[in-house]
Amino acid sequence: MTVLALETSCDETAVAILRDDRSGPELLASEVASQVAAHEKYGGVVPEIASRNHLIYAPQLLDGAVAAAKTPFSEIDAFAATSGPGLASSLMIGASVAKGLAIGFGKPYLGINHLEGHLLSPFFAGAMHSSRSSGLGDGGVASTMRVQGDIRPNVSLVVSGGHTLLVLVRGLTNYQLIGHTVDDAAGEAFDKVAKMLGLGYPGGPEIEKHARGGDPKRFDFPRSMPASENFSFSGLKTAVRYLLPKLPVIPSEVESGAVRETATRTGRPEAERTGSERIKSRRVTEGEFQRDPSSTLRFARGDVLRDLCASFQQAIVDVLVTKTIAVAQKHRVDLVTISGGVSCNQELRRQMRDATGRKGIEFKSAEPWLCTDNAAMIAFAALLRLRAGYRSKVTEEIDPNLKVA
Ligand code: KG4
Ligand code: ZN
Repeated sequence: MTVLALETSCDETAVAILRDDRSGPELLASEVASQVAAHEKYGGVVPEIASRNHLIYAPQLLDGAVAAAKTPFSEIDAFAATSGPGLASSLMIGASVAKGLAIGFGKPYLGINHLEGHLLSPFFAGAMHSSRSSGLGDGGVASTMRVQGDIRPNVSLVVSGGHTLLVLVRGLTNYQLIGHTVDDAAGEAFDKVAKMLGLGYPGGPEIEKHARGGDPKRFDFPRSMPASENFSFSGLKTAVRYLLPKLPVIPSEVESGAVRETATRTGRPEAERTGSERIKSRRVTEGEFQRDPSSTLRFARGDVLRDLCASFQQAIVDVLVTKTIAVAQKHRVDLVTISGGVSCNQELRRQMRDATGRKGIEFKSAEPWLCTDNAAMIAFAALLRLRAGYRSKVTEEIDPNLKVA
């Protein structure tokens, strides 16, 4: 059985082909075209730019993937795409392409929840030993990709730019939402604080890089909602904002230019949102994200930037690790998994591994190249669902607010 999947929920266009035979699943192609450069100057994802780029990249990646996999479309047994959550105008592109291929070749279609893709990804194994760029972004092909075992019950921490979720996974499709963020997602907090500090986008890798060698105890940032299984990171972001003017050096944010609507990875632009969703949206000026290079330099001269990044990162890691372990213990689960872009963070991985080890809990994380958005995780979820007899109707709509449980 061979599955082709597309992922276009936000600003990455991705295509993967996964084959399942007697020796287990084998990832034949995994291609990602990143649009970071196209959105960076706006400080967030501009939905219309994202969908226009998906339209350009998707056919090119499809060609690249079938060539890399040496598998013509006629040999694909099912076509899958992310059906939510995400930006409506982006989701539509991948879902329409997958549905078109499914109809054209008379094969099943599967709409896959992006969050399910993330939360199953730690169950992949296998090194990516040949990596190749699609010429459009970062791409790679893993020659052998095995399933690490059944989807064992676990407490899954999904941490990305749009989501911070604690999910009790009892098995494939059996998910219970335990905790979620009430305001910013962890990745969003990294991105916003990086912007305040005059660092690049996406902010997580930048903050991690600048935190190296810094003192994580120098600044005492808040750990919000300690008694709850939910998360809140906007107080932490505000604490950094209030601290900056008190420091000997302050990064400058340029406030000029036309207002442009951008969206967080959660989905729709501000105008379309309601209630608490609005908290997650932001309007930025085109000039806001233009970095003042001297601000980073001035910061770097002291150790302030290093210590600030290390202290901020530690505040996030502390909260994520403490709550995940508490939930695993409460539900007597002996496996913790982490996935999503923020789970690339080496400090988070290290501290989660240490903390679970101390409690006798097993720990699995998605491989770093599977943490950020990709289509291999969508193909994997589709394959597991196909094996279990699931199919979607081609009339099924995308859902920008699709829930995992
Ligand atoms: O999973 P992902 O690629 O997209 C979403 O579904 O949101 O996650 C992207 C997020 C961004 O907010 C980015 O800053 C964060 O993941 N991220 C990191 C790291 N690498 C990516 N955050 C902290 N440390 C990292 N090394
Ligand atoms: Zn994601």
